[in-house]
Amino acid sequence: MSVPVPIVIDCDPGHDDALAILLAAGDPAVDLLAVTTVAGNQSLEKTTLNALRVCTVAGITGVPVAAGCPRPLVQPLRVADDVHGESGLDGPRFPAPTVTAEPGHAVDLLRRILTEHPEPVTLVPTAPLTNIALLLTRHPELAPRIREIVLMGGSTERGNRTPAAEFNIHTDPEAADIVFRSGVPVTMCGLNVTHQALATPEVLARFEALDTELGWICVELLRFFAGTYRRLFGFSAPPVHDPVAVARVIDPAMVACVDAYVAVELSGRHTRGATVVDLHGTLGRPANARVAVGLRTDLFWDRLLAAVSALGAGAAGGR
Ligand code: BDR
Ligand code: CA
Repeated sequence: MSVPVPIVIDCDPGHDDALAILLAAGDPAVDLLAVTTVAGNQSLEKTTLNALRVCTVAGITGVPVAAGCPRPLVQPLRVADDVHGESGLDGPRFPAPTVTAEPGHAVDLLRRILTEHPEPVTLVPTAPLTNIALLLTRHPELAPRIREIVLMGGSTERGNRTPAAEFNIHTDPEAADIVFRSGVPVTMCGLNVTHQALATPEVLARFEALDTELGWICVELLRFFAGTYRRLFGFSAPPVHDPVAVARVIDPAMVACVDAYVAVELSGRHTRGATVVDLHGTLGRPANARVAVGLRTDLFWDRLLAAVSALGAGAAGGR
């Protein structure tokens, strides 16, 4: 087997962020070096607590967790409690976390990792890009130490926070603009692809069949998420966005991509936060991103189930 790819997840858990952490921690193709948090789905305090909760129930120890930016670069924070609930991770009952956060800022932890790790590191943001933009702005000399940024955000089509804009980009458009214009290789896994990662009743049954404490927590997360996606968007099954970005790093063949120029709309009256993806090269600009256009859902769910199963192996017993 090839050497695991070193990654850091920058997240705002969040139901689908929680599953992204589990995939990253449980899959042998990646080496999860750290989890950093940012305000987005909920306040920074809540997303950080949720990251610690997920690490605790999954037995993820020895992976540093650090909190980053409490608000977007320019605009005020508007959380997604309509989607993820008051806690940001409504559904399961979590025990008090035994995993604790590092004292420093997430950007300092990222700087340390990028400086000290022998290989360039892949960053996997599954949240507003505030921490990543701050890192690139404060420490431009570290850009060559970033192998790539594989993010969940944007869309080649329509949005979910507004008709035009996806939540992560819409929450901090200025940060997203910095990331897409940074020159660091960027892969964008947007709604056009993550809406294929639907946690159908068949998928839920596979999590139930694991019959581990962690498997049941995933079931409760997915049931809550199913409820909000049914109520808000009329989906028959919820799209599990964030693990798609991790899946792309684990096995690029799982997530097909094309090169394209991507701009972030900063000033549109109705379109602020939209990703303008020039799939057909009509603007004549050089590509600045790889854009996800297809998902092997069979491989995706196999891999996610295997990761949760591997992490939960020590805590078998179910209910
Ligand atoms: C993104 O928004 C958040 O609510 C999810 O966690 C995901 O990262 C999907 O638009
Ligand atoms: Ca997220």
